[in-house]
Amino acid sequence: MKKIYITTPLYYANAELHIGHAYSTVAADVLKRWHKMFGREVFFLTGMDEHGEKIYGSARAAGMDVQNWVDTMAEKAKKLWKFLNISYDDFIRTTEARHTKTVQFVFSRLLEKGDVYRGVYEGPYCVSCESFYTENQVRSAGGNCPDCGRPITEIKREDSFFFRLSKYGRDLLEYYEKNPEFLSPGDKANKTIDTVRRGLNDLCITRQTVKWGIPLPADPSKTIYVWFDALINYITAAGYPSDRENFSSLWPADCHIVGKEIFHFHTVIWPAILMALGLPLPKKVFGHGWWTLKSDKISKSRGNIVTPYEVCEEFPADVLRFFFLREMPFGSDGAFSMDRVRERYNSDLANSLGNLFQRVEKMLKKYFGSKTPPAGEFVSAIIEKEREVLNQTDKFMSEINFYSALTKIWKLIDEANRFVEETKPWVLFREKNEKLNNVMLTLADVLFFTAEILSPFMPGVSEKMFGHLGGRLGKPSPAAAPKNREIPGGKVLFPK
Ligand code: ME8
Ligand code: MG
Repeated sequence: MKKIYITTPLYYANAELHIGHAYSTVAADVLKRWHKMFGREVFFLTGMDEHGEKIYGSARAAGMDVQNWVDTMAEKAKKLWKFLNISYDDFIRTTEARHTKTVQFVFSRLLEKGDVYRGVYEGPYCVSCESFYTENQVRSAGGNCPDCGRPITEIKREDSFFFRLSKYGRDLLEYYEKNPEFLSPGDKANKTIDTVRRGLNDLCITRQTVKWGIPLPADPSKTIYVWFDALINYITAAGYPSDRENFSSLWPADCHIVGKEIFHFHTVIWPAILMALGLPLPKKVFGHGWWTLKSDKISKSRGNIVTPYEVCEEFPADVLRFFFLREMPFGSDGAFSMDRVRERYNSDLANSLGNLFQRVEKMLKKYFGSKTPPAGEFVSAIIEKEREVLNQTDKFMSEINFYSALTKIWKLIDEANRFVEETKPWVLFREKNEKLNNVMLTLADVLFFTAEILSPFMPGVSEKMFGHLGGRLGKPSPAAAPKNREIPGGKVLFPK
């Protein structure tokens, strides 16, 4: 049985991780938990990119042995993911033996096949992006890196190996055409298609002067270019080439979640490598937007970072998880500020969601002795809304559209708050109107439903909600609230 296979980028082990990295990782975690909630089998991979010039440089600058340095960075990353409630299934490090083996296998295989050949490389290189450029690209960027704008270094005539990327242009275009969801979100597709249409150059995939990398089986004086090394992680972790059973249960990946600056690597270079290996291509690469500070991308090397720990001095980790996906569409850029987090917390969590829980719990306590009503019918208008939310959110989530999914869920929460205003349960209670049962049973249902459907986004908050509700039902299902059930309630969910 094929599992749903979701990945994040492998983050460079060169500096402390920040909210940008947390963003991609939280997104992948929410997706995983979403599918699990519906009983689908999922595998979620994250990890660290530990080779190359940039990481070697930062370790040395810190006066540390490089292996010690990357070990420390990997431990810190794992700690951060634990802190953020990340439920990955595997954490791969590119310095692991399993990965070295796979990368060397791939290299040898492509060399045999003639898709890798010997040559000489000379030209511009950006250490920060770990990326080769042409003289033309650098000239049109005013002599700097066309991607990050930093100063460029020159590689002087290195005896190298090249991957025949140029050979795969036509097949790539055909794949994009036949699989329109591969390049996601759709507005990022044109740039990629244009690049490939203009024609691809073969890619240099070895370094002569970089020692911190995977040695070439054919020539151990060289190492493998860090991007060629890192991309292969997605099949290493799936068991390629030796663990066939595992591999066929995972590959192809269903979604590679990446930041938009590395979309090209994942949508052009990576699929071409897979084609050369004769392997199926991932179903989707989603290039998400950037968090910015004063219009600048938040970035380790710019030094303008905000860490999740800083945000969580004021809020629990779940609030940051929620903020990430509620604040802006996944494909867009957004300005980060603590004020925006506070605003979201107050309006969406404390006022809408928290208020709904508090008032419904209070009424159940007063009218039914902290139980759901002993009798009654669900009010169909609200139950219909729940059904709609269930269907539409699952469709949105399959399109990696967290923003629309959360918007839908909050419409239901707002609707439920309005339902309280309109039905005035306190009047029904005073007048001993039987409709009170129906209204309160329906409102209790919204609480159960909401606690379940939000659990992938805010697992910790949902746990608290289940505590208030005396346990969970398992998955979000409309009209499922049991009658006459103890509702213990609890402390305010989102204190101001
Ligand atoms: O590129 N906003 O690693 P990296 C949103 N090792 N997301 C951000 C972000 C921001 N301001 N800053 C970083 C690499 N990210 C390679 C990847 S994959 C085989 C190798 C996230 O440490 C986003 O996912 O530079 C981005 O693509 C990734 O971190 C880059 O991390
Ligand atoms: Mg980067």
